[in-house]
Amino acid sequence: MRVVVPPIKSQGIKTKLVPWIQALVPDVSGHWIEPFLGTGVVAFNSGFQRALLSDTNPHVIRFYQQVQQGVIRASRVRAYLQEEGKRLQCARNSGYDHFNLIRDRFNRDHDPLDFLFLSRAGFNGMMRFNRRGEWNIPFCKKPQRFSRSYITKIVNQVHDAACLIQPEWEFRVAPFQEIIPQATSSDIIYCDPPYAGRYVDYYNGWTDEDEQRLFELLSSTPAKFILSTWHHNDYRHNDMVERYWRRFNIVTRDHFYHSGAKIENRNTIVEALVFNFDANIEEHNHGVRPKPEQLMLFEERAEYMTQQLGRADV
Ligand SMILES: C[S@@+](CC[C@H](N)C(=O)[O-])C[C@H]1O[C@@H](n2cnc3c(N)ncnc32)[C@H](O)[C@@H]1O
Repeated sequence: MRVVVPPIKSQGIKTKLVPWIQALVPDVSGHWIEPFLGTGVVAFNSGFQRALLSDTNPHVIRFYQQVQQGVIRASRVRAYLQEEGKRLQCARNSGYDHFNLIRDRFNRDHDPLDFLFLSRAGFNGMMRFNRRGEWNIPFCKKPQRFSRSYITKIVNQVHDAACLIQPEWEFRVAPFQEIIPQATSSDIIYCDPPYAGRYVDYYNGWTDEDEQRLFELLSSTPAKFILSTWHHNDYRHNDMVERYWRRFNIVTRDHFYHSGAKIENRNTIVEALVFNFDANIEEHNHGVRPKPEQLMLFEERAEYMTQQLGRADV
């Protein structure tokens, strides 16, 4: 499947897992309910006409509400990024002065376009807010960040989001405890909560009590649900799977199957999907199988490339 990538970036973005998640989604006639929306990549690729999408982070919700209302349009984004990109390029301290100006303006006014700017000019596409709820990621240190092609890429992503967001999708700033009880038996809930102990910031604290409450709510919902969580890494297992989630169906995706496998993926966590409906576990375990070429680990690929180059030299 072609995965539509959203204009907002975040370290927790599930772009690579979208085909795996969507392949598991059961046939339901109701709403797509996503209480931990984040960048929106999973919802945007869900194909549902009706949806309830929420997050405690008001900035992502406000951004997409304005896209839905037509306040943020592709042409306006282009004009804004061209203008601010020019200022960034000419600013002192290799662009840092202008990045800081936008950051301070965003922290004061919360303009969704400034939010987009920070998301796309921040270090490594990360999103983090400090204890006062202020933007807390530094500049990527590229004064030429908003090149013509980069702006076009972002503008196209805004356009894609505008096309996919349906008039019947409801965006809300709310905690998951308010959203999950609204689901009915014809809905599907997709949950991607923060992983306990990782990326803690103003909007991403996650405690054992939160996990327990999530478990209680998902255990009693009449809806079908899919929960993203982590299963294990090289050092330990996720205690929460043992404590709560093993009562449901679970499929995992070995890091061996990361597409474009990189050596560092060997140390990353193994992702899991927990769900409360019948599905062919065999079919969904270990992810959507990639092409044989993608299965080659980084070193094997490097060795292969060296051999090929060696041959070409001869
Ligand atoms: C792991 S991220 C979701 C990433 C998303 N699936 C994506 O691909 O971009 C978790 C999200 O949950 C939100 N969040 C954290 N605590 C929450 C809570 N108690 N209720 C609702 N949303 C919460 C965070 O703001 C964050 O956007």
